[in-house]
Amino acid sequence: MTEARPSAQTWEADSYARNARFVSDLALPVVDLLAPRAGERILDLGCGDGVLTAKLRDLGAEVVGVDSSPEMVAAARARGLDVRLVDGRALPFDREFDAVFSNAALHWMPDPDAVIAGVARALSPGGRFVGEFGGHGNVAAVVVSLLAVLARRGIDGRGLLPWYFPTAEAYRAKLEAQGFVVDEIRLIPRPTPLPTGMSGWLDTFARPMLGGLEDDDRRRARDEVMELLRPALCDEAGNWTADYVRLRFAARKG
Ligand code: BEZ
Repeated sequence: MTEARPSAQTWEADSYARNARFVSDLALPVVDLLAPRAGERILDLGCGDGVLTAKLRDLGAEVVGVDSSPEMVAAARARGLDVRLVDGRALPFDREFDAVFSNAALHWMPDPDAVIAGVARALSPGGRFVGEFGGHGNVAAVVVSLLAVLARRGIDGRGLLPWYFPTAEAYRAKLEAQGFVVDEIRLIPRPTPLPTGMSGWLDTFARPMLGGLEDDDRRRARDEVMELLRPALCDEAGNWTADYVRLRFAARKG
């Protein structure tokens, strides 16, 4: 089998808004867990197009967003937000925030230890780190189908997987190793209806896996992934549901 090289994930704000608005729509429980207070300084880590950053601002917090995608940073700034182009592994803040918040972003960031170290530096003593992202078993059927379709082409896709989906125990250990006190951490299976179906999801999120294929073959591969998934994730009426598992946590800098 050929070892494949990862294609960069690219983000198009319009396509993200069309295919993935549910990501921010489903974030209210983690915003509740953060319980933002008026006047607090909050860092939104991996803020994407800024929908939740704007919500935190509207709740009275003073929010800074960071994201590593120039397209997403531009979309978030268009909402009038203070958003900076920053790699999550190299947060440049020093004891500036009362809380760091993150929704559906940490699974995209390689080197979780570097990310957590940057969060610890960014927080004032006692500051909160509250977030939710893909946990162990997240999109398992989708992952297996992508690997199977690449294997048909003689490609070992395991090295292409861009996502970090830890268990609660593994992530707790990482947080505690950097001095956090973990108040809550758990995996939450959350089958998630996909408003634009599996094709919209794959087009938006699976580029690192399929992006190395030629255009025609990429479309064929996407269709093959959908055929493998159909019996598991598509109902008789044609509605798709993704096999999401969230890891939700709240921690404090000790
Ligand atoms: C997630 O939010 O769990 C997710 C999104 C895109 C790719 C993989 C996982």
